Amino acid sequence: MALVEIRNLVKIFPLGESIFGGGATSQVRAVDDVSLDISPGETLGLVGESGSGKSTLGRLALRLIEPTSGSIKFDGGDLLAAGAGEMRRLRRDMQIIFQDPFGSLDPRMRVEEIVSEPLIIHESLSLSVRRSRVAELLRTVGLDQSAGRRFPHEFSGGQRQRIGIARALALRPRFIVADEPVSALDVSVGAQIVNLLAQLQREFGLTYLFISHSMPVVRYLATRIAVMYRGKLVEVGPTLQITTQPSHPYTRTLLEATPEVVM
Ligand SMILES: Nc1ncnc2c1ncn2[C@@H]1O[C@H](COP(=O)(O)OP(=O)(O)O)[C@@H](O)[C@H]1O
Ligand SMILES: [Mg+2]
Repeated sequence: MALVEIRNLVKIFPLGESIFGGGATSQVRAVDDVSLDISPGETLGLVGESGSGKSTLGRLALRLIEPTSGSIKFDGGDLLAAGAGEMRRLRRDMQIIFQDPFGSLDPRMRVEEIVSEPLIIHESLSLSVRRSRVAELLRTVGLDQSAGRRFPHEFSGGQRQRIGIARALALRPRFIVADEPVSALDVSVGAQIVNLLAQLQREFGLTYLFISHSMPVVRYLATRIAVMYRGKLVEVGPTLQITTQPSHPYTRTLLEATPEVVM
């Protein structure tokens, strides 16, 4: 059974009043009738050029935004029918890692506060248990324990991404949407983060929706690849098949546009 089952998902954003008058409002079909299964333990790579709807699909899959229509099941349950209490419980299982860890980490909070915030919200742990959980999380993502007392700006981009990952792992989630997690990093630093994500997947049995505009990065990590173009899913298949025998012309364009990068 799929961990995430997406059916006929549509997200339309209004673009406001048309400047050409007539009161007509334009709209964008950011996600246009997408159906997709994500299996437990797999890394589904989601590729497509900027503006193709990848982030919108990722946010919909976590119900961070509501779709215009369509359905989403998480672990067999109707995600869109879940009430507030049920959503709160489900939130623990579903996390997101962002492209820009600096933008998503509160600059006024110490790293230990950032990483322990989900624990404070969702679990009632004693201070000492929480502290040791934070230390363990920092160790898990390859950061020194002393990192806890420092602030985000004191870290490099790759280290900040590790902080974001530690925070995402705090509640021991099952499903993680990684939205361009290495796109803002140098290739070598990005490769270390990709390796960390692969290691964490083995260790914790995580399921990833890994979003990237870069075929080489996705090819390295993904079990299967889904290709988006203008809101639509144009192709899905095993990584080897998509990268060696793409059936859609747009996929071929993406493969040609991305030079071989050794990771
Ligand atoms: N909150 C929003 N309001 C209006 N339009 C949006 C919003 N979020 C995304 N869009 C539009 O939806 C389309 C898909 O965007 P996005 O999902 O961010 O693509 P990608 O992540 O592939 O770059 C784009 O045309 C974008 O401008
Ligand atoms: Mg995006």
